[in-house]
Amino acid sequence: MIPSVDLAGGGAMPLVGFGTWQLRGQQAYDAVRAALDAGYRHLDTATMYGNEAEVGRALRDSGVPRGDVFVTTKLQPNAAGRERATIAASLRALGTDYVDLWLVHWPPPSRTMVANWREFLAVRDDGLARSVGVSNYSTAQIDELIAATGEAPVANQIPWSPSQHDERRLADSRERGVVIEGYSPLKGTDLADPVLVDIASAHGVTPAQVVLRWHVQHGIVVIPKSVDPDRIRSNADVASFVLTGDDMAALDALGSATG
Ligand SMILES: NC(=O)c1ccc[n+]([C@@H]2O[C@H](COP(=O)([O-])OP(=O)(O)OC[C@H]3O[C@@H](n4cnc5c(N)ncnc54)[C@H](OP(=O)(O)O)[C@@H]3O)[C@@H](O)[C@H]2O)c1
Repeated sequence: MIPSVDLAGGGAMPLVGFGTWQLRGQQAYDAVRAALDAGYRHLDTATMYGNEAEVGRALRDSGVPRGDVFVTTKLQPNAAGRERATIAASLRALGTDYVDLWLVHWPPPSRTMVANWREFLAVRDDGLARSVGVSNYSTAQIDELIAATGEAPVANQIPWSPSQHDERRLADSRERGVVIEGYSPLKGTDLADPVLVDIASAHGVTPAQVVLRWHVQHGIVVIPKSVDPDRIRSNADVASFVLTGDDMAALDALGSATG
């Protein structure tokens, strides 16, 4: 069972989700079906990925109730000002009447950033998205949204991995009630790093599982992508072992290594 993190304003997001960037067409459909069969209950897509229809169809065909799955999609870059039309198109493509989380994919130009955020809040208030958040925002940009509206994004989706670990940023985020959702966890990691390989072999798991479990133990959401059914399954298997305090410290230290 994959644990969840509570979101400000209600709801909970499973700490491991299935990433779908670069999955298109039948491959996207098959991968999402495999992910749902493997127990993922959190899917991450985006308008920009061009696969919302396949993600939605795979979810419907899986037989898993819509209410059991946390679905995220995103407003594509340069679409500030077209928020309503974009969420309507996403819901149509996904074949659902709400998403669990709608993210601003990239910060729009600063002159439109607050207006864009107000539209997001209105879309949430209308029930089309249960929660709203951002992606690729700095803490300063999040502070600008809070100062203007009094409402923080529930999540900020940004690159994260042991070698990019930033305690300060994590603490700043938590202080504001913003969950960090890490992307590209495996691409951002040298899976042959001896520190990682040793920890993995001590627990009888793969280096990728160690990376994903490390996120979970930090309360950081992680959304690995794979096209391979075996890797899809093993990436979801993060609840069958526990990293020790020493393991966590050794992995955290990869973030401060130089070179
Ligand atoms: N908000 C944003 O701007 C943003 C940006 C980037 C990504 N994202 C989201 O985050 C998700 C994850 O990031 P990502 O797709 O960039 O990278 P990722 O999940 O870190 O890595 C995916 C790569 O790792 C390989 N892989 C998967 N499982 C593996 C395993 N167990 N062992 C070894 N290799 C493995 C995959 O190959 P195979 O497919 O062949 O298994 C693929 O090449 C995306 O799919 C997307 O949903 C968001």
